[in-house]
Amino acid sequence: MCGIFGCILKKGEAAPIIHGGLKKLEYRGYDSVGIATIDRGHLFIKKDSGKIDDVHEMHDLDDLPGRIGVGHTRWATHGAPYQVNAHPHTDCNKQIAVVHNGIIENFAELKTELEDLGHTFKSKTDTEVIAHLIEEVMKKEVLFVDAVREAMKRIDGSYAVAVISVKAPDQIVCARKESPLVLGVAKDSIYVASDIPAFLPKTNKSVVIEDGELVVLSDKGYEIRSIADWNLVTREPELIDWAPEAAEKQGYPHFMLKEIHEQPLRLRNTLRIQDQYLDLMTTFLDRAGEVFLVACGTSYHACLAASYLFSKLSFLATHPVIASEFVEQHGKSVNIDSTLLVVSQSGETADTLEAVESARLRAATVLGLTNIVGSTLTRVARVYIVQQSGPEIGVAATKTFTSQLSVLSQLAIKLAKKRGKVSHVEIEDLEESLERIPDIVEEIISSEEEKVKQLAKKYADRQTFFFLGRGMGSAVALEGKLKLMEISYIPSLAYPAGESKHGPISLIESGFPVIFICPKDSTHRSIIGNIMEMKARGASIIAIIEKDDEEIKELADDYIEIDTGLPEVLSPIPFVIPLQLFAYYMSLERGNDPDMPRNLAKSVTVK
Ligand code: G6P
Repeated sequence: MCGIFGCILKKGEAAPIIHGGLKKLEYRGYDSVGIATIDRGHLFIKKDSGKIDDVHEMHDLDDLPGRIGVGHTRWATHGAPYQVNAHPHTDCNKQIAVVHNGIIENFAELKTELEDLGHTFKSKTDTEVIAHLIEEVMKKEVLFVDAVREAMKRIDGSYAVAVISVKAPDQIVCARKESPLVLGVAKDSIYVASDIPAFLPKTNKSVVIEDGELVVLSDKGYEIRSIADWNLVTREPELIDWAPEAAEKQGYPHFMLKEIHEQPLRLRNTLRIQDQYLDLMTTFLDRAGEVFLVACGTSYHACLAASYLFSKLSFLATHPVIASEFVEQHGKSVNIDSTLLVVSQSGETADTLEAVESARLRAATVLGLTNIVGSTLTRVARVYIVQQSGPEIGVAATKTFTSQLSVLSQLAIKLAKKRGKVSHVEIEDLEESLERIPDIVEEIISSEEEKVKQLAKKYADRQTFFFLGRGMGSAVALEGKLKLMEISYIPSLAYPAGESKHGPISLIESGFPVIFICPKDSTHRSIIGNIMEMKARGASIIAIIEKDDEEIKELADDYIEIDTGLPEVLSPIPFVIPLQLFAYYMSLERGNDPDMPRNLAKSVTVK
C-alpha cells in the first residue's frame, strides 16, 4: 500500500504540489504523511503520524522550500504509525531522503550489515535501509543514480521508491519492482506517483514504469533504464483521457456516495466493452480444462456470483478461490490445462498477483479483469479486459463491483451462446436485460435511497447483523455484510441461508436483525422457509424484495422493494444497491468516515 509522490518544477515551490498529490493518494493509506524537499544544498523534511489534513494543520506541509521534493502517505507494514516511522526516511547525515511503497523482505539482514558498518537507524521501518544502503555506496564517490541502482540490486521484495539527495539536487531517482509507479510529464514540471489521478490535475501525459526499471527525473525530462543491464529504455508518454474532475467528489459529501450514484453511468460504459475482447476471453474459457475464479475482497464476491452464472448459463463449472488461499489449495495441481480468470479492481493486489505467478510458473493460462490500465495484472495476463468503471477512490468498492458483475455476466452469456446451451430467445432476453440494468439501478437509487437512510437510522444502534441469501443471493449477502462491516465497524455474519441452521441460528434472540436477499427466483420458496425459521426465534426481518412480493412483505419487519423484472441470473447487480446505501448511511449514523475506514486501504499490495 502507501502512496508516493514526487515532483520537479522549473519554477515555484514543490511542497504544496506534493501535498496536493498526496491528498489524491490518501486512499492508499493514511496513518502518517511526510514531505522532503531540497533547497540550496539542504534537505528539509516534515512528517508525522495522522491523516494528511491533521498533520498539515499541525506542521504546515506547504511550508518547505525548494522546487524539488518527494512525499508519502503511509499504511503501516513495518513499525507502528508513529512520527519516527513516517516517510521520508533519511541516511545518517540527512543527505538522502527516501519514500517507498512495498516491503523489503531482507531488511533485517541488511540492517544488521549496515549497523555493523556504523550506520545508526532511527525507525523500525524496512524502508530506512534503502537510505543507508545508498549512503554506504556513495562513500565510494559514485554518482547518486549509480548508488540507487546498487542499493536496488541488494533488495529482495517489492518496491516503488523515489529518492532525492543533496549530492544531486536536481534529480529524483525512482525504481520499481512489483509496486505501481507512473510518471506525469508536463512542459515545466515532471511528476512521479503511485497512480495517475495524483498528477492528473497537472498533466494528462503519463509513462508507466515497469518492473526492474530505474528512472532519473530532472528538469530535462526522464531517462528510464533497466536496473539489471543498464540498457536505456525508450518509452513515450501516453495521453490519459480521464477528466481530472472524475477523481473529485462532484458535490457529494463522500466519494463512496458519489461512486454509488455513478453506477448507472459506469454500467453503461461497461456495456461498451468491445466484443473482440469478450469473444477472445470466451474462447479461452471454453477451451479450459478447469477454470478458477481468483480474487480478494469484493472482487472475490463478484467471482462467487459469477460461478453461479457460468454454471447456470454456460454449463461451465468454475472454482471461485480467495487469492491468498490459491497457492495452498491448488498450487500443486494447477497445470497447463488450467485457466485462471483473475479479478482485481486495482490489478495490484499482492495476494492475487502471487496466485497468478504460481499458476504461470505451472503454465496455466491467466485471464484478467481489472479497472486499471497498465496495472500489473494487465501485464501478466494472456488476455485482459478493462472494466471501465473509472477511478474508484472510496475504500469500500461499489461501482467496481457492479461493473465486474456486468462484465462477468457478458462473458457468461457469450459462452452460453458459443456453447449453444441456451435458446436464442433466452440469449436475446438476457442481452436486452443487461442493457436495461443501468436504468434499473438508476431507478433503485432514486426511489429507495431515502427509505434506506431511514432504515439505517432505525437500526443504527444494533450490535450485529446477519445477512442471508440463497444461490446468487448468497454472494450478494456476503458483499452486503462486507460493506457494512468495513465502514460501520459492526461485526456481522453472512451465510447461504440454508447453512444458517447449522450453527449461526443459535445467535438469534429477540430483535436480532437479519437481512434477507429475496429475488423472485428458484430460491424464493426456500428463502421464505428460512425467514419463518428466523422469525419464529424473534429475529427482526429486513428483506430486500422484488416489487409486489406480498408474501415476504407480510413476514418482514422492514423491507426495501426494488423493481427489476430481470431474469434471475442478473439479480445480483440491482440487489446489492440497497446494501451499499445501507452500509453508507449506517457508517454516517455511527459517526464514521465511510471513505477512510480504519486499518483498511484501497489497494493491498502486501501479502
Ligand atoms: C482491498 C480493498 C477492497 C478490495 C480488495 C481487493 O481490501 O479495500 O475494496 O475489494 O482489496 O482489491 P482488488 O483491487 O484486487 O479488487
